[in-house]
Amino acid sequence: MNKDFLSILDITGSELEEMFSLADELKLSRHFRPLEGMTAALIFQKPSLRTRASFEIGVAQLGGQSVHLADEGIGLGVRETPEDVARLLSRYADLIVARVFGHELLEQMAAHATIPVVNALSDRSHPCQIIADMYTIRQHGLLAPGVRVCYVGDGNNVANSWIEMAAIWPIRLTVATPEGYEPDAEILAAAQRQAAFPIVLSHHPASAARNADVIYTDVWASMGQEQESATRKKDFAQFQVNRGLMAQASGSAIFMHCLPAHRGEEVEAEVIDGARSVIFDQAENRLHMQKALLTRLAHCGQGTQALRHEQLALL
Ligand code: CP
Ligand code: NVA
Repeated sequence: MNKDFLSILDITGSELEEMFSLADELKLSRHFRPLEGMTAALIFQKPSLRTRASFEIGVAQLGGQSVHLADEGIGLGVRETPEDVARLLSRYADLIVARVFGHELLEQMAAHATIPVVNALSDRSHPCQIIADMYTIRQHGLLAPGVRVCYVGDGNNVANSWIEMAAIWPIRLTVATPEGYEPDAEILAAAQRQAAFPIVLSHHPASAARNADVIYTDVWASMGQEQESATRKKDFAQFQVNRGLMAQASGSAIFMHCLPAHRGEEVEAEVIDGARSVIFDQAENRLHMQKALLTRLAHCGQGTQALRHEQLALL
């Protein structure tokens, strides 16, 4: 296991499967406390409900504690360099979980922290979301090699992490975006080299959705892009997930959305609130898979707890 979890490429397909099994166990037992005596520092440069709540609650359920550090107080990259923030927090805490705009802030922190750094979403990717989404697909009995996942909408952080998932686990992934809103070209090129099935980019949602097992979408304007909302509404008008689009998918297909959602924009209310929607399983599974991730990462770093153990051994 790598020290940090900045992207899906920090884990292997078999490590993902081990985390699924661990999450199954953690779901059943509240008596496992691998984070006893440990502290997670949570930094958020952007709003969050699911990610912040599931990390804070998950750390507590694993026996640890967390401190939330609002970025207005830290000034990550402005008041203080990411290197110094990382070195400092490595003296206080055992894990850093950070949601940032620029992905490079995570990379700089990871390079200088002696403790694990976890990407809680950046402009580039959202790996915690996608490992939990894979667990949800598995929960619904659809996670077989070659499962057809169709992402419809903006080629954003969530789409990029789906593409990276296709590099480590054999999904058949199709990404349908309007022209000009394609996912990151470098991420795609790197993933294509490793993917078991070619990752297909399309500008035609109906054909992309045909026979899919999973139809997935996300907001058209991500956090930080609010001023582009009006333009994007026009550009994405043909990319709404509605009953017509769902009819293209397999008869047993599920609908997924990372949330928060805008009913009537990227998804029709009848779909997101309908029988095929698994959005609250997805949200719940953030907790279980992040607990599995934290359990795996807890002893990868040299945080205060590890140092305390060394000091105790010297006494
Ligand atoms: N899906 C997700 O990451 O939600 P939040 O932005 O509320 O954390
Ligand atoms: N793409 C969205 C995901 C939110 C969980 C955003 O970055 O705002």
